Amino acid sequence: MDKVAGSKNDEFYTPYYAVKPILKYLKKGATIWCPFDTQDSQFVKSLQMEGYDVIATHIEDGYDFFEYEPNRDSYDYIVSNPPYSLKTEVLERLFELGKPFAMLIGVVGLFESQRRFEMFRDNDWEIMYLNRRVSFMKDFTSGKTALNPPFSSVYITHDILPKQVVFEEIDKKQVLLPV
Ligand SMILES: C[S@@+](CC[C@H](N)C(=O)[O-])C[C@H]1O[C@@H](n2cnc3c(N)ncnc32)[C@H](O)[C@@H]1O
Repeated sequence: MDKVAGSKNDEFYTPYYAVKPILKYLKKGATIWCPFDTQDSQFVKSLQMEGYDVIATHIEDGYDFFEYEPNRDSYDYIVSNPPYSLKTEVLERLFELGKPFAMLIGVVGLFESQRRFEMFRDNDWEIMYLNRRVSFMKDFTSGKTALNPPFSSVYITHDILPKQVVFEEIDKKQVLLPV
């Protein structure tokens, strides 16, 4: 695949309360690949805290999602919040990889391009709606949320949720994983 460039608007990080609703749908003892994450990520920390094995890879550490995959037999799920500017390319690659996945993605316009229309039409997937909008963080430690997005985020999943549409409530006070 040609090199795919992200954008600086991709540097927003997920608060713990937005990771929490997906946790109960992942089988205990599983190994989870977080392909857009460093050890600081709330995905990585929360999954480890719940007892999962986590493979965290990030472009800064030399692991380009479009070129790298851990050994296929070594992981069970792919879970993360991907770079927004690459959501179509990310979803296409995820469907190609064929493993169960869950990606937290802004829902506005998600079904509106012809390319994504065809992708969603031709693949099996599920969606999780959250009752509140997720406010993303600009750093991993302060707990401050810089962006209050004018759109809702959803989990698009493949082979994870028990129904095609699932609704979950979040508690926005839990920004960082309790230590
Ligand atoms: C929206 S941020 C989310 C980060 C983290 N997953 C979280 O939820 O806190 C997406 C991250 O993916 C990284 N990224 C961009 N392109 C990538 C690529 N091709 N492979 C791996 N990581 C990439 C960005 O640098 C950015 O840190």
